[in-house]
Amino acid sequence: MGYFSGKVVWITGASSGIGEALAIELAKRGASLILSARREAQLEAVRGRCERAREHLVLPLDLTETESLAPATAKVLDHFGRIDVLVNNGGISQRGTVVDTDIAVDRRIMEVNYMGTVALTKAVLPSMLERRSGHVVVVSSLMGKIGTPMRSAYAASKHALQGFFDCLRAEVHDKGVRVSIVCPGYVRTDITKNALTADGSTYDQMGHAQDKAMTSDVFAVKAADALARQVEEIMIGGNEVWAARLEPFFPRLYSFLVRRVRST
Ligand SMILES: NC(=O)c1ccc[n+]([C@@H]2O[C@H](COP(=O)([O-])OP(=O)(O)OC[C@H]3O[C@@H](n4cnc5c(N)ncnc54)[C@H](OP(=O)(O)O)[C@@H]3O)[C@@H](O)[C@H]2O)c1
Repeated sequence: MGYFSGKVVWITGASSGIGEALAIELAKRGASLILSARREAQLEAVRGRCERAREHLVLPLDLTETESLAPATAKVLDHFGRIDVLVNNGGISQRGTVVDTDIAVDRRIMEVNYMGTVALTKAVLPSMLERRSGHVVVVSSLMGKIGTPMRSAYAASKHALQGFFDCLRAEVHDKGVRVSIVCPGYVRTDITKNALTADGSTYDQMGHAQDKAMTSDVFAVKAADALARQVEEIMIGGNEVWAARLEPFFPRLYSFLVRRVRST
């Protein structure tokens, strides 16, 4: 029997892209799902594309409304009795320089990517600790390891997640709870279209790198395989993964190269 068979898995950002692909893949592997994001109609459509659609629960939420996340968790526990795996995947990206970007945009990206993820994790964790069983996953980014132009708030939010979940892993390891950090490189989704520009409007264009990148379906299979092994951390992507691997060993070469990164 596979790792996800019979498990209750809560996925945020399940209305599109990586979250949608993961939902479809984990349903195939036998998981019962809670699908969350803001857009209810899209979540319903994703549920319809999952095997055993009627088993899964659509639970719309906004990660910036942190006070709603404990009541949402109570609803899930009431419905399924437990949460085996929490996949913190919801997030937004950025296209804007430091000098141009309104501080409200920095704050918004931090609120969605970092505070929302932290608040939901804190809401779910007590029930996992009580059962001495659970798996908390965060979909971070290579931008949680390195930084490239036009992504300062995004990279900051993902670096913050890296620190938070490294600490959490150390705290809960002997209490039966596992923590996995998944760092995607480029994956072909709407992440760049939905990215916030310097004034807070959406970028609304397909990213140059994302357009040529691996599909979310291929990514989902690789991520599901890694999570089934309860990896502590994994980078999944194309050649860009090497930048994050090389940076600690060749920081000046990395710094020289990153100035030349095409920023769209
Ligand atoms: N694609 C890549 O190349 C790439 C690379 C590295 C990391 N990632 C990470 O992968 C994750 C998924 O991104 P994606 O590529 O699949 O992009 P996407 O298609 O834009 O998906 C983002 C998801 O986050 C949800 N979301 C956004 N704001 C939210 C909020 N305030 N509250 C609740 N949900 C919210 C969106 O749903 P609603 O709009 O319905 O709320 C959507 O389901 C993100 O954390 C992203 O940083 C992606």
